[in-house]
Amino acid sequence: MKKIQLVPVSGVKKKLSVQGDKSISHRAVIIGSLAEGLTTVTGFLEAEDTLNTVRIFKKLGVQIKKDKGTVYIHGRGLASLRQTPEVLYVGNSGTGIRLILGVLAAQPFVSRITGDAQIVKRPMKRVIEPLQMMGASLTSNQGFAPLTVQGGSLRAINYKMPMASAQVKSSVLLAGLYASGDTVITEPERSRDHTERMLKYFGADLTVKGNTVRLKSGARLKGKRVVIPGDISSAAYFMAAGALLKKSSITVTNIGLNESRTGIIDVMKKMGAKIKITGIKNQNGEKTGDITVSTSSLKGIEIKGKIIPRLIDEIPVIAVLAAAAKGKTVIRGAKELRVKETDRIKTVLTNLDRLGIKTQEYEDGFAVFGNNGAPFTYASIDSYGDHRIAMSFAVAALASENGLLIKDIECINTSFPEFFTLIKSLKVKKK
Ligand code: S3P
Repeated sequence: MKKIQLVPVSGVKKKLSVQGDKSISHRAVIIGSLAEGLTTVTGFLEAEDTLNTVRIFKKLGVQIKKDKGTVYIHGRGLASLRQTPEVLYVGNSGTGIRLILGVLAAQPFVSRITGDAQIVKRPMKRVIEPLQMMGASLTSNQGFAPLTVQGGSLRAINYKMPMASAQVKSSVLLAGLYASGDTVITEPERSRDHTERMLKYFGADLTVKGNTVRLKSGARLKGKRVVIPGDISSAAYFMAAGALLKKSSITVTNIGLNESRTGIIDVMKKMGAKIKITGIKNQNGEKTGDITVSTSSLKGIEIKGKIIPRLIDEIPVIAVLAAAAKGKTVIRGAKELRVKETDRIKTVLTNLDRLGIKTQEYEDGFAVFGNNGAPFTYASIDSYGDHRIAMSFAVAALASENGLLIKDIECINTSFPEFFTLIKSLKVKKK
């Protein structure tokens, strides 16, 4: 198991770019594979999760090539996938397995799909149920992977989702591409909408009203050029570093600023962070820009309700910011954290405890009692194999008194393999 010892830094003035957006990268491969004609993807995230999605579509018969940073997908339409005797392997990716299940549910053949030790513990009933309602037959290990899918002709459903989840919504929408009739999905709160945007961009007839998405049947998707921005979930670690490190200012360039993902910006501003957004553009239906964050005095706030799906993956790094803030931060309505790569309520609080930070656990969130900017004392941190825990506490290490030891760090390769190279590039001077 790999570990890393990180030292504190200050006085960082840095402009950097992070790797491509994970959510959009998965969708570009999946939707490009179902479209007719060539899809070219630049800015694709080369990380374990998204490369597993590429491998799966290659096994399903799609020609996908990579050349000098561009991915070329030679799609042959919705009906072009072919059966494979191999078990499809998503690795660590919840997005991979849930979205691909939506596609497999509509194929006129049997497929088997699974993932790593964390994936086989994550709930799949949330996608099994709506896909069964559409007419697919799925068998699982009591609601968990491995799964066997016998796809076939599907009927559209009008589905009210019990929780806000972009993975469930996207799975049903992808199946809906093949269904007879209009697929209608309503979420209790709006989750990220990259699937809706990309399906529209590729030519699907899709409308969004409030929390409801309607996809008309019978669309043919046409191959497109997709430019993927930097991942705001990866940028978040450097935004947090910009706020926490003394005499510092960090700019992350060309970051996706889709409204359904920018909760981290709203929360950091509310905590008192100095944030500037410049260079706003629009790339294939997604807003992008540069984010600059400089040294800030942070205060504790309350985070709950509609904003939660807009920052769900950033809650571990928000917890680190809260630990350095003045006063109490409370996060509620975030029960979904219990079923991420790890139970992130537990893994965040266990590690904050090691830093000597006082916390309180709730079923649907937690409270952090900030130390008002006092540098964190030395501790050994365990990621529990969760990439976002490893990266969040790497930021805490930079803002610590004598550094931190972070154990089990290979997991960062699932979403952000360049993370530690970029973190090391911040070492302007030792304190
Ligand atoms: C994702 C959706 C989110 C998020 C995950 C990526 C996606 O999960 O946590 O990391 O790409 O659709 P939900 O399904 O809970 O929204």
